[in-house]
Amino acid sequence: MTAAESRIVVPEGRFPEPSSVTYPPELVVLPNAEAVDAYAAGLIIEQIRTKPTSVLTLPTGNTPIGMYGLIVASAQEGIVNLSKTTIVNLDEYHPIDPASLDSYASFMRRHLMDHVPVGEWNIPNGGAPSADEEAQRYRALLEARQPVDLAVVGIGPGTTCHIGFNEKGSEPDSTVRYVTLDLQTREANARLFEDPSQIPEGALTQGIGDILRARWIILIAKGVHKAWGVNRTLKGPVSSDAPASFLRIHPRVTAVLDQEAAQYLLGN
Ligand code: PGA
Repeated sequence: MTAAESRIVVPEGRFPEPSSVTYPPELVVLPNAEAVDAYAAGLIIEQIRTKPTSVLTLPTGNTPIGMYGLIVASAQEGIVNLSKTTIVNLDEYHPIDPASLDSYASFMRRHLMDHVPVGEWNIPNGGAPSADEEAQRYRALLEARQPVDLAVVGIGPGTTCHIGFNEKGSEPDSTVRYVTLDLQTREANARLFEDPSQIPEGALTQGIGDILRARWIILIAKGVHKAWGVNRTLKGPVSSDAPASFLRIHPRVTAVLDQEAAQYLLGN
């Protein structure tokens, strides 16, 4: 065990194995981004077809857009039905007007909710006056919907290795809370804002501990700009300076990557 691994503190009983155990994630490396979209969508569709009342934690960002498009198309063709499914989104900026085009609430409406009936959909309220009170509300809401059957996460830009908005320093037992965004995150995500200067400094996010409670976790990453973070996450020490590396203390993780994102892993 490395020094970094020895810092892992996991609440007793939360995981089936001692915290010093790490699991190799199932690696699915596909030729291109479109194949990642199709594979990830296929896994989610299969989960919902097997258990229509599934509770899903879902992400936003560039990475899952194609995946949502395929889920919508499948729902419209009658292949999958989300009308009994519960969605608990990973995160939302704070403060942000939920109605603004830049909010993750708008993202979800644009890419999923406006197109298919979903049983129940939850996302932190970026417009809540108190971030801490909203974090408390969302924490209780998530708790009441546990266990999450499947959590789908992307990975942050550059060297952040964030999942949700759990930036460096996030611990494996962290739960829903207000966080300050890493500068790299703000720089990468500002480009997606109508007015980049308006990107908030913070966000509300599910914690690492919340994500790790899901029965199954899918990590999706596409593109060369994710290659460093993917390699650090899957091959480096398990530690809070790469929060996504905590995925390796979960027994059931599927990493769905395109060849560019996986390029440093291949041949290692
Ligand atoms: P992206 O963001 O999909 O826009 O790259 C992922 C993330 O920040 O978790």
